[in-house]
Amino acid sequence: MKKITLNPKISTFPMPTAVITVGTGEEANLITLAYVGKACSDPPIVVVSIQPKRYSYQLIEKHGEFVINYPTIEQLKETDYCGTRSGRDVNKWKELNLTKEEASIIKVPMIKEFPWNMECKVINKIELGSHVCYFGKVVATHSDPKYVKIDSLDPEKFNFPAYIAGNYLELKKGTLEIHGFSLELSP
Ligand SMILES: Cc1cc2nc3c(=O)[nH]c(=O)nc-3n(C[C@H](O)[C@H](O)[C@H](O)COP(=O)(O)O)c2cc1C
Repeated sequence: MKKITLNPKISTFPMPTAVITVGTGEEANLITLAYVGKACSDPPIVVVSIQPKRYSYQLIEKHGEFVINYPTIEQLKETDYCGTRSGRDVNKWKELNLTKEEASIIKVPMIKEFPWNMECKVINKIELGSHVCYFGKVVATHSDPKYVKIDSLDPEKFNFPAYIAGNYLELKKGTLEIHGFSLELSP
């Protein structure tokens, strides 16, 4: 196979499209992020990367907390809206008819209509360049029960969108194999 060399800045792998809540009370704002991932399982730590020019940057800096809200594919319009308008200019909650739901541990509200919410406290940050990467300890996770199977995300029910190279994708349902299946194969 002859490979071509690409710009290292290229993003090829599927990323999530999550809407993050930052700020509290009337000041609470919503920002869509694709730079969201898991960094540690015990303690549970996630990472989110935000550009300092975003309005949301000041709010995460001020409060040191955030909520990761995962949308369903039916909530793609709301997701794109929160990633293309600034809280400096519009109240995204009001424009999208979204409801602030009190979180169980932190002061930043969750999006009631979004089925999966993770309450996070910032424990560290690294200024990397274009983005500041925040490490958030997950202090509580909430889900619509229909997406959960034995304390985990049910891969058969899962219908959250992914983001790749500027496109929103539906990840096709259906498990290919389970983690560790290759141990059963020879050699
Ligand atoms: C799908 C998608 C993914 C995005 N991912 C990020 C990201 O990871 N980091 C970031 O700083 N901005 C990201 N953005 C851009 C912000 O969401 C956008 O600039 C937003 O309007 C900022 O809102 P604010 O000014 O209210 O904070 C993304 C936008 C979209 C649509």
